[in-house]
Amino acid sequence: MKKYFICLSIVLFSFYGFSAFSQQAKKLTVLTDTKGPAIPKAMWGIFFEDINFSADGGLYAELIKNRSFEFTKPLMGWKEITANGGAGNTLIINRGEANANNPRFARITVKTQAGAYGLANEGFRGMGLLKDKKYNFSILARKQSGNLKIRIEAIGVDNKLIGKAELNNFTGEWAKYTASFICTATDAKAHLNVYFEGPGTVDVDMASLFPQDTYKGRPNGLRADLAEKLAALKPGFMRFPGGCIVEGRDLANRYQWKKTVGDIGDRELIINRWNTEFANRSAPDYFQSYGLGFFEYFQLAEDIGAEPLPILNCGMACQYNTGEVVPLDQIDPFIQDALDLVEFANGATSTKWGGLRAAMGHPKPFNLKMMGVGNEQWDEQYLDRYKLFAKTLKAKYPGIKLITSSGPSPEGKRFDYLHAELTKEKADFLDEHYYQAPEWFMNNASRYDNYDRKGPKIFAGEYAAHIKDTKNNDAEYKNTWISALAEAAFMTGLERNADVVQMASYAPLLAHVDAWQWRPDLIWFDNLRSVGTPNYYVQQLYSTNKGTHVIPIKMNGNIIAGKDSLYSSASIDADMHQLIIKIVNTSAKAQAVEFDLQGKVKPKKTYSLVTLSSADKFTYNTLDAPTKISPVQRSGNIASGKILSNLEPMSVNVFRVSLGI
Ligand code: AHR
Repeated sequence: MKKYFICLSIVLFSFYGFSAFSQQAKKLTVLTDTKGPAIPKAMWGIFFEDINFSADGGLYAELIKNRSFEFTKPLMGWKEITANGGAGNTLIINRGEANANNPRFARITVKTQAGAYGLANEGFRGMGLLKDKKYNFSILARKQSGNLKIRIEAIGVDNKLIGKAELNNFTGEWAKYTASFICTATDAKAHLNVYFEGPGTVDVDMASLFPQDTYKGRPNGLRADLAEKLAALKPGFMRFPGGCIVEGRDLANRYQWKKTVGDIGDRELIINRWNTEFANRSAPDYFQSYGLGFFEYFQLAEDIGAEPLPILNCGMACQYNTGEVVPLDQIDPFIQDALDLVEFANGATSTKWGGLRAAMGHPKPFNLKMMGVGNEQWDEQYLDRYKLFAKTLKAKYPGIKLITSSGPSPEGKRFDYLHAELTKEKADFLDEHYYQAPEWFMNNASRYDNYDRKGPKIFAGEYAAHIKDTKNNDAEYKNTWISALAEAAFMTGLERNADVVQMASYAPLLAHVDAWQWRPDLIWFDNLRSVGTPNYYVQQLYSTNKGTHVIPIKMNGNIIAGKDSLYSSASIDADMHQLIIKIVNTSAKAQAVEFDLQGKVKPKKTYSLVTLSSADKFTYNTLDAPTKISPVQRSGNIASGKILSNLEPMSVNVFRVSLGI
């Protein structure tokens, strides 16, 4: 009897509790039948720039730094070594015009019969090698005299040998020689000894070490764990190659896509502009080998199901640096590069550039539909150059959408000027950038609700919430939860206005914990591991829960963009017959909400919910603790077309409901 009484009181209490909870809950109305603007398939994408060792030393899986001795200091990254009494020397020879793109090679002379002389490569802040995995070494070599043998040794941080291979029988003509080894131990900071045993002399160039297991097993390929993290974002587009890197500090240092395609040995290396950009994060060994070049970018975009979005230099160097411009009457080669890029991506294999694409292994077109003209340019000098680009490109390729700059910040004179002028020009897309405090993102969640519906579409091409420096030793700490939460709040406004904002990408994408120049970033990595930041999980939640059409969600008849610290947008997935509600609670308190689902088609009886949350706004993920903030899945019941939920403090929530048919 007593037992029965206790049970009943719990039931009564929970009924009472539930109804009180429901009474306090904020009422949100969702009109499931009112199909609003279509959400573009490419809405949520990624922004790739070779910053923070994102390409060489990062996504590009090459493990040898300065493989062709073309860094300003030819032996940077290399160190002379000897073993067992061997002796020798290295002479750097410059072929000049005979091989203008890769002029230097190393002439190695070993003077002793016994022992060995050689060069050790340090990798990019060490080399990440994995136990039981295969590594492929290759080198271009040409014998001068004697009969040298090459012995390569992978050496762990504790100086232990963890992999080895040999090469010999070099001829008097340049040829590529290859050897492989299976690594016997995992090491994030290994190095590679390349020993020569003589006596004799041999010329060498393009020394390379790649893991066999690159992303999709492609030769000259990408680091699998990083590419997989990109693929898991299911990005709608991939913007490349930047960023300021497109502009260069001066025009000579600008990104020129034609120099990044064809045989990797013919791609002319240049300094990476981030090498010297910030004195406090100087990286003198940061160059662009272009092993990851435009062909590889297009291939990656295709592999991960993203629309390719190349950004081209428009005849202007970075206006924060030299601000050099090409005279208007000399701009044709820049425009020609853009025209030729369309041919490279889409042209028939019988054309010059389409033929090169085919020769590189991709006869089918890459289906390029858009490109950016310039990065963060501003003022008349940009407008003048954009107009010339647009005139020629639109005449020849009217189907290609052009992305135009609106300057480096989301408001102010420069922004207003370009917005007004480019609207008159009927530009396709304006590229808006916001690197702002978390509060800015929250306060601007309704930024696009009143944007001109007839003006250019918006590409939120670079954004990230930047917290004030809280002095912490972890590279990843700037990706704190509050930054991701603020971005999530702002992104509900992007989604609600998907008729205007048609693409958006967080920036930058990747950063090496030991070699970064800029933070926050979406994904951090070392030589073996990588971690998705809270911001990464926000991007992933939005991208994988996009829906096909916006539908109205309101509180007291108003859009939900900050009132009571709530931000919300809703969509319908017409193909999957599902309703998707995103709601962000930026308050430090839990908040009860009740969604009233109104529409002819009734919801099924349950919903699924994915939540990202932390009660501590300074929580962040690290390589050692990668999932402090990561998605948590739940489910719940729907009663009488209503979802009642207690939103956790500081949480991002995505509800999914199947609509009965
Ligand atoms: O994302 C880092 C830099 O920020 C980009 O290169 C540039 O476009 C912006 O200023």
